[in-house]
Amino acid sequence: MVCHFRKKFHKRIKSFLVICCFVSPTYFIYSHRLVKEEPLCLKNTCSCETCISDRGISHWFDRRFNSSIQPQLTSNNENIPREVLLWWLTLQSRHPRVNIIHSKLFEAMPKSDPSQSASPCRCRSCAVVGNSGNLKGSNYGELIDSQDFVIRMNGAVTTGYEADVGKKTTHHFMYPESAKDLESNVHLVLVPFKPQDLLWFMNVLSNRKNILMYRRVKSYIKADRDKISIFHPTFFKYVHDEWTEHHGRYPSTGMLALIFGLHICDQLSVFGYGVDKDGNWHHYWENNRLAGAFHITGVHNATCETRIISHLAEIGKIQLYRGRHGAS
Ligand code: C5P
Repeated sequence: MVCHFRKKFHKRIKSFLVICCFVSPTYFIYSHRLVKEEPLCLKNTCSCETCISDRGISHWFDRRFNSSIQPQLTSNNENIPREVLLWWLTLQSRHPRVNIIHSKLFEAMPKSDPSQSASPCRCRSCAVVGNSGNLKGSNYGELIDSQDFVIRMNGAVTTGYEADVGKKTTHHFMYPESAKDLESNVHLVLVPFKPQDLLWFMNVLSNRKNILMYRRVKSYIKADRDKISIFHPTFFKYVHDEWTEHHGRYPSTGMLALIFGLHICDQLSVFGYGVDKDGNWHHYWENNRLAGAFHITGVHNATCETRIISHLAEIGKIQLYRGRHGAS
């Protein structure tokens, strides 16, 4: 009986050893492979070859870039610090109304970060497309459409300009005076340059008659209710403090969209910023080269913003495509 038990026991040990001999090398080979592939997900801040949020490449960038500041308001981060509120409320009004932020507005806000924060296993490519006339004849359409996210702004049009500007849009930045109808799959990002812009948005959302703005604004816009968000005033001030460093009264929509892109993307290609090859500042859909839309607003500092964009390109944080202005 004892002998039989021993025999059985030895047999089991033998088969265990055979399994070990077979499994261990296989495990070693596979685990080695896993270790070899792991850095894609563990070593970097994203899985692209280089990631925007990688540190240690430029002190200038590292000093400014603060990944903890969320670009969009959500119903979880609607608290606006007092100093931000005071700055933002006086942006365009000498008599600000502090109680303007209505709780109803936040009911319509997404509950969590709609752009989802970076992950080591993600490689999100984006295009931010400004409205510069340097896009005319650029043939960037395909390149722009090949990015995961395509961010456009204000009066940007694509119909009729597809070859140069592409036809894909995932995010559209606007404020009341630049509002336009959007396709149902596009994220609307409202940039509240003034508190009344939030009131306008609330009214638009509830289809109520709109408040009086200094220019005639749309009282109804077509947009996907599940894809609306508000640019966070804290992020707005962060761009003004850290990036444009108080040059100009406040940053332009283009500057805000670009820094937004730095925060939600892992790689960012920038199109449609700056003058065209003849030094004009008009929009790519305009024929009037003297329009100078962006440059003559008087509130933004175009020179400073252009310098920042060029520097971001020099240090490799963005790929800058200058269109018909010159070489990319
Ligand atoms: O003129 P608009 O504000 O609609 O343009 C959107 C953004 O595109 C601007 O805020 C600016 O950053 C950029 N732009 C530019 N050069 C132009 C026109 C617009 O850099 N000629």
